[in-house]
Amino acid sequence: MASFRRILVTAAAAATAVNAVSLGDICTTSYAQTALPVDFYPGITIDSSSVSTSLVTNDTVSSVFFPTTTIEYCNVTFAYSHNGIADDIVHVTYWLPAPNSFQNRYVSTGGGGLAINSGSSSIPTGIIVGAVSGLTDGGFGSFDTDWDAVFLLANDTINWQSTYMFGYQAHHELATLGKEFARNLYNVSDSTKVYSYYQGCSEGGREGWSQLQRFADQFDGAAIGAPAFRYGQQQVNHLIGNMVEQTLNYFPPSCELEKIMNLTIAACDPMDGLTDGIISRSDLCKLNFDLNSTIGQAYSCAASTSASTGFGALEGRSLNRRQFPVSSPTPAQNGTVSAEGVAVAKAYLDGFHNSKGERVYLSYQPGAQMADAATTYDSTTGTWGLDITGLGGEWVARFLELQDTSTLSNLDNVTYDTIEEWMKLGMNRYYDSLQTTFPDLTDFQSAGGKVIHIHGEQDNSIPTASSVHYYESVREVMYGNLTFNESVAALDDFYRLYLVPGAAHCDVNEYQPGGPWPQQTLQEVINWVENSVAPDTINGTGNIDTICRYPLRPLWSGNGTSFDCVYDQASIDSWNYTFDAYKTPLY
Ligand SMILES: *[C@@H]1O[C@H](CO)[C@@H](O)[C@H](O)[C@H]1NC(C)=O
Ligand SMILES: *[C@@H]1O[C@H](CO)[C@@H](O)[C@H](O)[C@H]1NC(C)=O
Ligand SMILES: *[C@@H]1O[C@H](CO)[C@@H](O)[C@H](O)[C@H]1NC(C)=O
Ligand SMILES: *[C@@H]1O[C@H](CO)[C@@H](O)[C@H](O)[C@H]1NC(C)=O
Ligand SMILES: *[C@@H]1O[C@H](CO)[C@@H](O)[C@H](O)[C@H]1NC(C)=O
Ligand SMILES: *[C@@H]1O[C@H](CO)[C@@H](O)[C@H](O)[C@H]1NC(C)=O
Ligand SMILES: *[C@@H]1O[C@H](CO)[C@@H](O)[C@H](O)[C@H]1NC(C)=O
Ligand SMILES: *[C@@H]1O[C@H](CO)[C@@H](O)[C@H](O)[C@H]1NC(C)=O
Ligand SMILES: *[C@@H]1O[C@H](CO)[C@@H](O)[C@H](O)[C@H]1NC(C)=O
Ligand SMILES: *[C@@H]1O[C@H](CO)[C@@H](O)[C@H](O)[C@H]1NC(C)=O
Ligand SMILES: *[C@@H]1O[C@H](CO)[C@@H](O)[C@H](O)[C@H]1NC(C)=O
Ligand SMILES: *[C@@H]1O[C@H](CO)[C@@H](O)[C@H](O)[C@H]1NC(C)=O
Repeated sequence: MASFRRILVTAAAAATAVNAVSLGDICTTSYAQTALPVDFYPGITIDSSSVSTSLVTNDTVSSVFFPTTTIEYCNVTFAYSHNGIADDIVHVTYWLPAPNSFQNRYVSTGGGGLAINSGSSSIPTGIIVGAVSGLTDGGFGSFDTDWDAVFLLANDTINWQSTYMFGYQAHHELATLGKEFARNLYNVSDSTKVYSYYQGCSEGGREGWSQLQRFADQFDGAAIGAPAFRYGQQQVNHLIGNMVEQTLNYFPPSCELEKIMNLTIAACDPMDGLTDGIISRSDLCKLNFDLNSTIGQAYSCAASTSASTGFGALEGRSLNRRQFPVSSPTPAQNGTVSAEGVAVAKAYLDGFHNSKGERVYLSYQPGAQMADAATTYDSTTGTWGLDITGLGGEWVARFLELQDTSTLSNLDNVTYDTIEEWMKLGMNRYYDSLQTTFPDLTDFQSAGGKVIHIHGEQDNSIPTASSVHYYESVREVMYGNLTFNESVAALDDFYRLYLVPGAAHCDVNEYQPGGPWPQQTLQEVINWVENSVAPDTINGTGNIDTICRYPLRPLWSGNGTSFDCVYDQASIDSWNYTFDAYKTPLY
């Protein structure tokens, strides 16, 4: 009996092997050329001679955004150009799963910092779910060229084509071509749906929102993390630490800032009902913890040759390369937390106000690493001083002042009112390309789209409150005539926001180890879209397995024995900002 069954199985396997098309069969230049979506996208000409393919097997991939997995795929790249633009070449890469793994899905992936793609670090996410998975170079020259390298045609002359490509157009093309390419490659019939998805964090998160806000039926679902949207404000906001320090004329030693953060974590960790080293309720920390209590506490740090950055893998690609300067070596430090140091931390967390006291922007949550307040040590004078942040300095110098340089040399004569002007200049100049906060998602909602939006509660690069404010803008614009609870229920139908306890920027937090991370967000989106399973909570890795959906907030009771996602009005109010420095709504 056993051997009879074995023979049947072997025969069936052999029959399948004879008929099945293998990954090797489709991973040839000629096969890919026959599947190109030629003449599919008006205004685009694909160069079929540019196609290259390579078969990759036994590739073990690892990321905070998907579990470590060994995959095989075909890497196809090709180039296209926009009709009527001289010397225009855009390169796209699509990874193809084996035909017997393909599940009628397409996934676009995004970039980080000023990069429009994340190289080979994000694109595996699609292969894992049986999708053709894509990335683009935006037309910037190569897959490794960041947007800033091509942004200026000359000093004072913007390359608007590159700006709109970075803003949203390149991703629209990537996804439109990618879905049709997938259909052709796998012979999907016209009557069968190819589902289309997006995953990205940070700048990749902004790129995702840029699509949902404009192209209602392009993606069936999106898994979006910590988006770098409200771009005009977000990029200038990186200067908040520098400005506070310059204004208060106090440049805290790195160890003092770290100690203030550590004491904040220790004090605020238990407020969520569980003492686990993780701040799950930064709202309660904001409401109940007075930083003055850290004044006089002793700190001590060993000398170090470079400071840790705490940045996640996606943002890291370009930040590590250029935008996030490696801090200067720091000496051994001993001291006590000063009133001046606490004043800096308080102003940092309070966010920008202009000289009239009107609110210009929001800031980070208490307990987050104060990355934008980093100072630099001058070993000659033995003093600490200004360390202009990479993203903030480059934004003002290159994208606002239009000079071909990667940072500001100083902040002389810059005041909080200058900051307000810079934020408004960036918002107005790039409102339709980069700002990415259009709040009316009616078309996306009507098309049946679903979006899971996550943000680390202790993000140190894009304030967590930035995501909450966008969620609130959508809620008010789309459902302002409903009660709060009714409007949240209406949003729940297609847009859900999850704040990840203790998490940093698109990553877990080295200072709050054991915190959760939603590693299967794309799978949750797929389950919502294809099986109508809307996630109440989402799963986390680490010691906390349940991540609550905003506006509900995590709370343990019974010394950590029971857990709930609770409604807390004071918490909701603590996330609510009124930007009275603007006469029109800041979405
Ligand atoms: C897959 O790669 C690992 C190392 O990355 C190697 O040890 C293993 O032998 C490889 N397996 C195959 C089937 O090639
Ligand atoms: C895909 O292959 C091309 C060469 O054909 C290579 O330049 C590129 O780095 C590969 N892309 C990824 C994301 O592996
Ligand atoms: C698609 O159809 C063509 C033509 O019939 C065939 O050669 C090819 O192998 C098919 N591809 C797949 C993935 O089944
Ligand atoms: C802050 O806490 C971390 C552990 O999370 C520790 O490594 C570091 O030394 C502490 N810093 C200070 C200044 O105490
Ligand atoms: C700082 O204090 C520690 C003990 O807390 C001591 O071991 C170290 O030598 C001191 N370093 C300096 C530079 O004073
Ligand atoms: C915190 O301390 C500063 C001076 O060290 C003081 O001006 C301020 O009033 C204190 N704040 C609170 C809330 O006690
Ligand atoms: C462009 O501006 C940068 C920064 O101000 C300057 O260093 C450079 O010389 C300028 N280039 C030209 C061609 O004027
Ligand atoms: C700052 O302002 C002072 C006084 O108006 C002026 O002399 C100086 O040149 C300015 N510095 C810069 C860098 O603009
Ligand atoms: C609220 O406004 C929306 C959009 O205009 C509309 O669809 C809905 O019916 C309104 N709801 C109520 C309760 O008036
Ligand atoms: C989340 O966890 C639950 C319980 O372990 C499991 O049933 C579910 O499949 C998980 N969801 C995803 C998307 O992994
Ligand atoms: C709470 O639980 C921890 C272990 O999880 C235990 O060490 C601690 O004593 C408990 N505290 C109380 C007040 O029961
Ligand atoms: C936020 O505050 C404004 C002004 O106080 C108020 O009108 C609005 O209803 C509040 N929003 C929420 C969600 O509480």
